[in-house]
Parts: sequence; C-alpha cells; structure tokens
Amino acid sequence: MHHFHYQDGRLYCEQVPIEVIAQEVGTPFYCYSRATLIRHFHAFDKAFAEVNHLTCFSVKSCSNVAILHLFATLGAGMDIVSGGELYRSLKAGVQPDKIVFSGVGKSEEEIVYGLEAGILMFNLESPQEMMLLDECAGRLGRRASIAIRVNPDVDPRTHPYISTGLKENKFGIDLEASEAMYAQAMEMDNLDIIGVGCHIGSQLTEVAPFVDTLDRLKGLIAKLRQRNIQIRYLDLGGGLGITYANEDPPHPTEYARVLIEDLRHLDCSLIFEPGRVIVGNAGTLITRVLYTKKGPVKNFLVVDAGMNDLFRPSLYGSYHHIQPVIDRERPEVRVDVVGPICESSDFLARDRDLPQIDQGDLLAVMSAGAYGFSMSSNYNSRPRPPEILVQEDKFEVIRDRETYEDLLRGERIP
Ligand code: LLP
Repeated sequence: MHHFHYQDGRLYCEQVPIEVIAQEVGTPFYCYSRATLIRHFHAFDKAFAEVNHLTCFSVKSCSNVAILHLFATLGAGMDIVSGGELYRSLKAGVQPDKIVFSGVGKSEEEIVYGLEAGILMFNLESPQEMMLLDECAGRLGRRASIAIRVNPDVDPRTHPYISTGLKENKFGIDLEASEAMYAQAMEMDNLDIIGVGCHIGSQLTEVAPFVDTLDRLKGLIAKLRQRNIQIRYLDLGGGLGITYANEDPPHPTEYARVLIEDLRHLDCSLIFEPGRVIVGNAGTLITRVLYTKKGPVKNFLVVDAGMNDLFRPSLYGSYHHIQPVIDRERPEVRVDVVGPICESSDFLARDRDLPQIDQGDLLAVMSAGAYGFSMSSNYNSRPRPPEILVQEDKFEVIRDRETYEDLLRGERIP
C-alpha cells in the first residue's frame, strides 16, 4: 500500500489529509510518512537477513533526530561524516558501536569525538588522516578500529556531482595504494584494522557497478589476508537509487540477491550505508502557489518554497514529480514552478505539464525525503520549513519552522 495517495481527490499522507497539516503549520513544510520509513528500512535490512550485516543509515540524507531515533529502534546503525552527525546520532539513541565515520576531511576535534564516543570504525581516506587518528588514539589511551575507504575506480553511471568512486574523485584511496596503506596501518601503535570500505556514488540504477566494485574489493581482501591482515567487515557504502521519474532501479531484494551470491565464501560481516533508498520516497515538500504569472514565453507558478528549501533541482537539475494536493482533473498546462529567491536557478520544475493550478493551491513536491531538508539553507534570510512526521491518523511537528530570531542567533553588532 502506498502511503501518499489520493482519496476523493485529496492527497493524504497515511490517514492525514495534507491540507489539514497545511492549515495547522502553514507552508512550506516537509512531510514524512512513518509507515513508509519503516517499510523502506525493513525492505533493505531484511533483504540481507541471511548474512551477517549492519545497516548504517546515511545521516546526511535526512538528519532529523526523530527519524534517526526511529531507525535506531529498528536496529539501525549510522553512517556519519561529521561531528554534528555524530552528535545527532548519539542524541537519537544510536549505539556508538553501530556508527561508522566516513569523510575525506575529518578534523582533529571530530576524530577525538569519535574516539571518545567509542564508534565502530573510522573509514580512513588518507595516510595523513591515519597518522592523526593514531596520534589522537594514543593520546587518549584508546584503540581505534579502522577500515580504509578504497576508491575502486568504477563508473557508477550517475550524475557527475554524485559519483565518488572514480580515479579523479577526491574520495578514498586508490586500490593499488591501499595495500601499502594497510601495511603501514599494521605498524601503527593504536590502530586495529577491521575492515575495507567503499562508496562509489549515489542514485545508482543498476547493480553492475556494485558487482564490479565487489570483485575488486574481494581481490584486495584476499591479498590482505595473505599478509595476515584480518578483515572482518566489508562496508559497501550506500548508493542504491530510487524512482524519481522513469528510473527503474533494482529493488533491494534484487540488489541483495546479487551481492549475497557474490559474497558467499568471503567470511566478512557486511556494512551498508543506504540513505536515499530508505527516505527518498518517504518524504514530500508541500508548498503553496503564491502567484500565477504569464510571461511572454512561459507560464510561471511562483510558490512559497525555494531553492533554499529544496536545492536538488537547482544544483543537479534533478526531476521531482509535482502534483496538486487537491486533484480537480483539469486540463494540462506547461509551467515553470519557481520559488521566491532572487536567482534564475531557483526552480523546482521547468517546462512541466501540470493540471491547471490557481493562486493559493497546494502542491506536493514528491521524492523529497532524501537530501531535501538536510541540504536546505537560510539563503535570502528565509527561515527553514518545519518537518512533520505522520503516523496513521496523527501528525507530529518534529522540527519547528524557524523564526526570524533563529535567523540572527549568534550574530552580533560589535
Ligand atoms: N555513504 C557515503 C560515504 C556517502 O558519501 C553517501 C552519500 C552515502 C553513504 C549515502 O548514499 P545514498 O544511499 O543516499 O545514495 N546530495 C546528493 C546526494 C549526495 C550523496 C553523498 N553521499 C543528491 O541530492 O542527490
């Protein structure tokens, strides 16, 4: 059952009409379906039920503490890339020994925070980072468990801004160089090598790049074992795509079937870092049409959500399906859906055929659960929108709409 659905021409999230939420909290707002979040988490996690694994939700995709808490109650770990994400995860009640820390630029302060929290492992991305981690661990009298994030040089065939596993990308350590880095790690006083990691990109719509990656990593693991370096965890990152328009990504069960087949005799616990596939289609951005405007060549719907609220269309040219909250079965009109921000790149859709929309109508920007709110900003001094979590016939504000006072927090006139 789909948790965003029409009933008598009104869009619902679970059993709550979207317009009811809009009346109460105003617009724009993000709205998540709790049942969908749970279903998607289970769809992914249970797909790997027959093998030892840990599903570490990728915090950056949707970072609200209530949502992290929900996943924690389902047994999730977290994939983090900053001290802020570690803080959120701990506040959400995630067990520290289920947290993996990735990222090319961890600061000393963040490294110390991770060590003190006792996280599962650091995915290292440079020799200098390795030295710093060893030094910090020594200073604190702790041991640090590590994986090296390998860059397998596999083309994920996705948008160039979100591919990460190619030689020219800044991420990870080149496959050949990683062997030497592992040998170096063996010599460090305070490091325990426990894993191999990777993450090749996001919004992948085929399994093949994952399989190619796995083949390369298996080769590396075999070589490391020959050198007596014991690899217990294989972290395959995130990246499984979703349907925004017509994409046809593999279902998690298909993804799992292919990988499990390929992993049979590896004798490693698997770690996954999915983000988008779990939250992407569990959230929507609701916005109201402020004005309809006819230009010489285009029709515009000027809405109250802008690129500061949902950056993906402006940044990547991403497609998000847009649908009216009240469906009146009107003829289609070609429009640009644009926000109030003073930039021409401030659009949510271009040349989109939508049923004729009037001033004051509500629109739902779909598939906005991943990298939606988490990439929002205060550009143009716009308070960020609230986040709403729907559970059956109830909804909860899990983040307040920001106020003007919030905008100035920490600023001062000297
Ligand atoms: N693990 C690591 C180390 C990552 O860098 C990422 C995403 C993930 C896991 C989760 O990937 P996912 O399963 O969500 O594909 N802002 C872009 C996406 C950037 C992804 C960055 N890394 C977008 O809106 O499409």
